Amino acid sequence: MADQFDVVIIGAGPGGYNAAIRAGQLGLKTAIIEKRESKKLGGTCLNVGCIPSKALLHASQLYEIADKDFESLGIKTGGLSLNLKQMLKQKDDAVEGLTKGVEFLMKKNKVEVFLGAGEILSANRVLVSGADGDKELETKNIVIATGSEVTPLPGVDIDEKQIVSSTGALGFDKVPAHLVVIGGGVIGLELGSVWRRLGAKVTVVEFLDRILPTMDGEVSKQFQRILKKQGVDFMLSSKVTGAKKTKDGVSLSVEPAAGGEPKSIACDAVLVAIGRRPHAEGLGLETVGVKADKRGFIETDHFKTSVPGIWAIGDCITGPMLAHKAEDDGTACIELIAGKAGHVNYDTVPNVVYTYPEVASVGKTEEQLKEAGVEYKTGKFPFMANSRAKTNHETDGFVKVLADAKTDRVLGVHIVGVEAGELIAEAVSVMEFGGASEDIARTCHAHPTRSEAVRQAAMGVEGWTMQA
Ligand code: FAD
Ligand code: NAI
Repeated sequence: MADQFDVVIIGAGPGGYNAAIRAGQLGLKTAIIEKRESKKLGGTCLNVGCIPSKALLHASQLYEIADKDFESLGIKTGGLSLNLKQMLKQKDDAVEGLTKGVEFLMKKNKVEVFLGAGEILSANRVLVSGADGDKELETKNIVIATGSEVTPLPGVDIDEKQIVSSTGALGFDKVPAHLVVIGGGVIGLELGSVWRRLGAKVTVVEFLDRILPTMDGEVSKQFQRILKKQGVDFMLSSKVTGAKKTKDGVSLSVEPAAGGEPKSIACDAVLVAIGRRPHAEGLGLETVGVKADKRGFIETDHFKTSVPGIWAIGDCITGPMLAHKAEDDGTACIELIAGKAGHVNYDTVPNVVYTYPEVASVGKTEEQLKEAGVEYKTGKFPFMANSRAKTNHETDGFVKVLADAKTDRVLGVHIVGVEAGELIAEAVSVMEFGGASEDIARTCHAHPTRSEAVRQAAMGVEGWTMQA
């Protein structure tokens, strides 16, 4: 007889494993299926996404600080050199530790783990095809948490050696002399930053006329200037139409996005980072009648798919493709399955780019407010005028607070600056509680901290900024 469950979750990324933990906590008999070759849990985020990229961003940033800033800070060390093998190893160690942590959490919450590919046979049956053979699971509910994969670019074939996706760019065995990044989005700028800091010449080719196109326009403009100052080259409004491997590397054919004379760029490596698409291959969606949209995202209404008893969460449904969004989807979905009031506030999902400095945002951009015809007020504060930023010689960037002109409710906060990813949490909390810019402005912030810049920007909404 097939094993019987309350919930079977397909995919053990942040969406899936959080759902599994919550299901375990609520006393549901739960199984999770993962097909990753390495047999590791944690999905894209822990294995080839958030975690390894942040481990490299941290280490490469320290390398750059040691190289460029130590002397002016009065720190003298011996000669600086890069041990890339060790830098990659500490990244792998971070992944290993965290994926083991997920295994532990599955045990702790009595979640049964099945290694193999999951295929939905009906609303109540899932087949797991693993190395040890096939197994059928019977269940009251199925949660699809199969995540996303890299969007391919026609004419540029990824081999994960010279022409890589983010996965290959997490493990170059030597620093490429010239890395071309196709796509000026989050992956391109984060991983481009890593290899530039370690010595590569980096050229970003972006189809649109700005980098980070979904971010606030002023943010992306200023951030591009900062990256340019750091040595990143940009080719905006440009598209790559083909890639040829040569004796010395790769020859890319690039032309204006609107069409025109192509030119070729010679480089050692290419990172394709033009977005990610939902992953649902081999899941049997069509057989059971689960509907997906034109781009392949599974259609859902409060995580319910078109088939009763089958639910979907995370990167494979619409919304920001972010680990914390997938986690919150997972928790809410299970709470709904358990008859509770699970919900996610998609208006307050923060977005962080972990470059130097960081970029962080929550809520609406100025462009979105203008388009929607919302009347808003703006408060802005530069880190140049923040005392902690000055003591630390980290003065690039600013905080911008957007608030409703009539009610003062905070509608969006956008930050370019060191530790912007930590600073944004305050704005998220205020927005979650429906707070006003005056709530931030009248909240005492410790001195000297960067968080004072958030307060000063909020004060700026009513025109009483004090420190600039
Ligand atoms: P995934 O993490 O993709 O997990 C899905 C899992 O399902 C995978 O392990 C897959 O093997 C498995 N699976 C698929 N099909 C089947 C099947 N049929 N049977 C069994 N298993 C299956 N987000 C952030 O918030 N912060 C970051 O800093 C960040 N950095 C990133 C850096 C990079 C380089 C990349 C690529 C992504 C990054 N992301 C980041 C995005 C983040 O990784 C994703 O949003 C997140 O992993 C989505 O979680 P998920 O659970 O929906 O899917
Ligand atoms: P992205 O959507 O962030 O950026 C892709 C960029 O490529 C866009 O600027 C787009 O205009 C451009 N582009 C598209 N087609 C192109 C073409 N043919 N030629 C040149 N440029 C082209 O996608 P990215 O960077 O691949 O990341 C995928 C997703 O992974 C992100 O959207 C995000 O959800 C997640 N992620 C999150 C991170 C974080 O939270 N810090 C880090 C890395 C990834």
